[in-house]
Amino acid sequence: MRIAILGTGVAGTTLATGLVAAGHDVVFGSRTPDAKTDLPASALAVPEALTGAELVVSALPGAVAVEALTALAGELAGHVLLDISNAVTPQFDLVYPNASLGEAIQSALPQTRVVKSLNTLAISTLIAPDTLAEPTQLFLSGDDAEAKSLVSGALVSLGWPVEQQLDLGGIETARGPEHYFLLFFGIMRLGGPFNIAIVR
Ligand SMILES: NC(=O)c1ccc[n+]([C@@H]2O[C@H](COP(=O)([O-])OP(=O)(O)OC[C@H]3O[C@@H](n4cnc5c(N)ncnc54)[C@H](OP(=O)(O)O)[C@@H]3O)[C@@H](O)[C@H]2O)c1
Repeated sequence: MRIAILGTGVAGTTLATGLVAAGHDVVFGSRTPDAKTDLPASALAVPEALTGAELVVSALPGAVAVEALTALAGELAGHVLLDISNAVTPQFDLVYPNASLGEAIQSALPQTRVVKSLNTLAISTLIAPDTLAEPTQLFLSGDDAEAKSLVSGALVSLGWPVEQQLDLGGIETARGPEHYFLLFFGIMRLGGPFNIAIVR
């Protein structure tokens, strides 16, 4: 699958490494593509990167993602957008305390099908879930079933089988996984890596 990743930081590059290893055709969309010569996939200007992409990943800093993506609303129309960001302030407070970044992006981009996932994971487990002692879970939120199915397939190729994917429902359910950041940060300070396992 052709996948465009917006954001060339540790989250975007880690994800790209896993997606390239899984055989996907990955490209970065960057504000300064010519300066990005050491990435796991080639970097293009953002509009070029979006052309022909079946899946677009937003790995932008959460606090600026809505503004940055809104500026691309035309180019992103019709695309499936996987949002993996956590929107927190420099003090690690939630930017959307009674809502979520996923909902804010979907509201700003009504012609784009937004799926929230991967934001609950530590970087080291993002593309290596089997490095943890037991199977753990990740979450999907989004209004469009076809878009979630596309993302689910990409997650399977990263090593996250469907049994380890929990579809929470519409994009409004992104609040839970996003607000989990507060707990994630607290546990991370005690030592990582770790992840959530749902036990019934
Ligand atoms: N799910 C996970 O496993 C996981 C783990 C850690 C972090 N995250 C989330 O992933 C997101 C990205 O984290 P990161 O540490 O990789 O971020 P980062 O290094 O701070 O930024 C990512 C990239 O976004 C682009 N960017 C920065 N400011 C921008 C702006 N104002 N407008 C447009 N583009 C901008 C830059 O790429 P260019 O200069 O090339 O345009 C930058 O390299 C965060 O929200 C974080 O919470 C997820």
